[in-house]
Amino acid sequence: MAGISGIRYPSDPAIRTFERTMAADHSSQKGFHTLCIHGGHRPDGHHAHLTPIYASSTYTFDDAAQAVAVFNGEQDGYIYNRWGNPTVREAEEKIALMEGYGLTGEDGKQLQPAAILHASGMAAIQTLFFGTLRTGDAILTQESLYGGTQETIDRILQPLGIASYAVDFDDEAALNQMLAEHPEIKLVYVETPDNPTIRLIDLARVGAFCRQQQLLMAVDNTFCTPYLQQPFKYGADYIVHSTTKYLNGHGTAIGGALVGRTAAHLDGQVTKTFRLMGGSASPFDAFLLVNGMRTLPLRLDRHCQNAQRLADYLTAHPAVAAVHFPGLDTYPQRALARQQMTNTGAMLSFELKGGLVAANAFVDALQMCTFAVSLGTTDTLISHPATSTHKGVAPETRIRAGVTDGLIRVSVGLENPEDILADIEQAIAAQDLS
Ligand SMILES: Cc1ncc(COP(=O)(O)O)c(C=O)c1O
Repeated sequence: MAGISGIRYPSDPAIRTFERTMAADHSSQKGFHTLCIHGGHRPDGHHAHLTPIYASSTYTFDDAAQAVAVFNGEQDGYIYNRWGNPTVREAEEKIALMEGYGLTGEDGKQLQPAAILHASGMAAIQTLFFGTLRTGDAILTQESLYGGTQETIDRILQPLGIASYAVDFDDEAALNQMLAEHPEIKLVYVETPDNPTIRLIDLARVGAFCRQQQLLMAVDNTFCTPYLQQPFKYGADYIVHSTTKYLNGHGTAIGGALVGRTAAHLDGQVTKTFRLMGGSASPFDAFLLVNGMRTLPLRLDRHCQNAQRLADYLTAHPAVAAVHFPGLDTYPQRALARQQMTNTGAMLSFELKGGLVAANAFVDALQMCTFAVSLGTTDTLISHPATSTHKGVAPETRIRAGVTDGLIRVSVGLENPEDILADIEQAIAAQDLS
């Protein structure tokens, strides 16, 4: 297959990734919980119950013929840790299986995605960008992206001649006009729900648009995970994850995944980019991730339940001006949430009527909930976007995007819901007194 940039490496097996990342049998996994536990696991030569942490930078060959076979991709095997590792492979296969779970491809057969684990979500996103785009190409995206992704576009891609345009994906006329004005647009990149205002992008609509216009479609699925949302269902070519969040689930390691709709999506320039940029995952982090993913659905069910309790409570609170949460009847995109997500997710944000003063007093008063950025851990994490993740955004732009001074973002944890509510209640009361 020619690389997306048109470069061919016909005799270079290093650019083929599928032997390593495609799980042996996608159809044998019965249920999603089973898949999270057993998916991607291969028996260990030493009968270890769990795949050990393979801490070895390089791998040996039996003889010259075997080395050639592995290098040529004719025999499964490992060469060098930057290219692949058995512990990392289990994580990759589990993620790929989850993203393809129950989905059929264009050929009517079970979809067989493939994944590459990276050292961070940002590393995965950069492999996506550099593996699929070249100077002169452009990205079409939404107004409110994760700050690191936006900065990558502005500070790294833009100076290299890869432009980016933001559009409201609900506005069909604007979409068509954008494409007419910028035929160099090659990749549509979306994040849903977005951060921190929890607005959704209609994946079916974007998928249809991308198919019609023959554009590549990539979705950051970090907030939902494949348990709550499967972008491949809507035709996405690529999915990225910060595995640091719900997939790991315990806040123990940074990581990221780039998942291709098929193994061929990762072949060529994408795998080449990954291997040469050097953002490969550590086997220790992969081990933590694999263990975290075993309980993903259990955790998410509880995360979502707790988030609903908190959202209902906040909605009725007199000091709160607005609550953004897909599980509320007042949520403007409730129908879309039901359509493309299997549950509400557990990220919510709410706006304190008292603005910045109230927000500062609120976070200072928290006793149990953790005041920190990041999300998806077992404990409830609370952040104040205006003074942290969105500090660098011009106030007018920030406020126009709904990131007001009083906006608080919550990654609702797994504690007893009464305890989460009690801490938030007393913290809101503290801001009332200030
Ligand atoms: C939606 C989203 N995408 C990507 C990233 C980047 O991931 P990482 O921090 O693992 O590099 C983050 C980090 O917060 C995120 O929230």
